[in-house]
Amino acid sequence: MPDLKELADLYAYPESHKPWLRTNFVASVDGAVQNPEGLSGNLGGEPDARLFKVLRSLSDVVVVGAGTVRAEGYHPISADSIHESLREGRSRVPVLAVISRSLVLPEQVVAPGLVVITPASSSVERRQELSRTVEVVVAGETEIDWAAVLDAFAARGLNRVLCEGGPDLNGTLVDLDLVDETCLTISPHLVGGPAKRMTVGAQAVERQMRLGHAIDEDGVLLTRWVRDRRSA
Ligand SMILES: NC(=O)c1ccc[n+]([C@@H]2O[C@H](COP(=O)([O-])OP(=O)(O)OC[C@H]3O[C@@H](n4cnc5c(N)ncnc54)[C@H](OP(=O)(O)O)[C@@H]3O)[C@@H](O)[C@H]2O)c1
Repeated sequence: MPDLKELADLYAYPESHKPWLRTNFVASVDGAVQNPEGLSGNLGGEPDARLFKVLRSLSDVVVVGAGTVRAEGYHPISADSIHESLREGRSRVPVLAVISRSLVLPEQVVAPGLVVITPASSSVERRQELSRTVEVVVAGETEIDWAAVLDAFAARGLNRVLCEGGPDLNGTLVDLDLVDETCLTISPHLVGGPAKRMTVGAQAVERQMRLGHAIDEDGVLLTRWVRDRRSA
């Protein structure tokens, strides 16, 4: 079982002057990203929780869809959910960026430091209301303009991007071929039922990935997959 330093080395972002987009999911053996309660919950147990914290610590910005924020009851990223030792020379915690069109966000996440990214078609009144507390970034007209979002991240030096889902947002990123890397924890369960898988999208695509590594941690499989753009 890798220690903290070894995990951080295994999951180090590549040196890059442009954003590198990593997504992180935990799924059951049969591909469910929701447990029977409809949450990711403790699908991946302690090994996944440990990795979740390491991945946050390594990132500059955590991007997440509003559906996940609402379902999982997101809070601002706190210093105690981060390994300080992995953030030398950087801000204490990564920026939290939520993607939303409805701008319906749980109260507890609306706090200074949050960035809300939304298309221009969202409610102007709600944007003004949110702007009193958080930073609201309008990108795109009816759909999020991802090129503009990634450019804005790069301009702020936020190149280590971690997307924590969910399936709807990930579906868009896969569709646009913006995912550079996927970290997938496979939990030793079958879930069955109507659970979502890690992507939901209108159209199927085929994106070649190559295995970075697979680590067996007490029967929980930590895998890292990198987009193979040679075949793009
Ligand atoms: N196992 C795992 O690793 C994992 C990880 C993440 C989530 N989950 C699970 O996935 C479920 C949530 O799924 P979901 O598909 O609803 O999650 P999601 O992708 O986080 O949220 C979808 C919402 O995000 C916003 N959004 C996404 N793409 C957008 C775009 N291009 N433009 C504007 N807004 C956009 C919209 O918010 P508005 O509705 O506010 O407009 C949309 O309704 C939960 O049960 C959660 O527990 C599991």
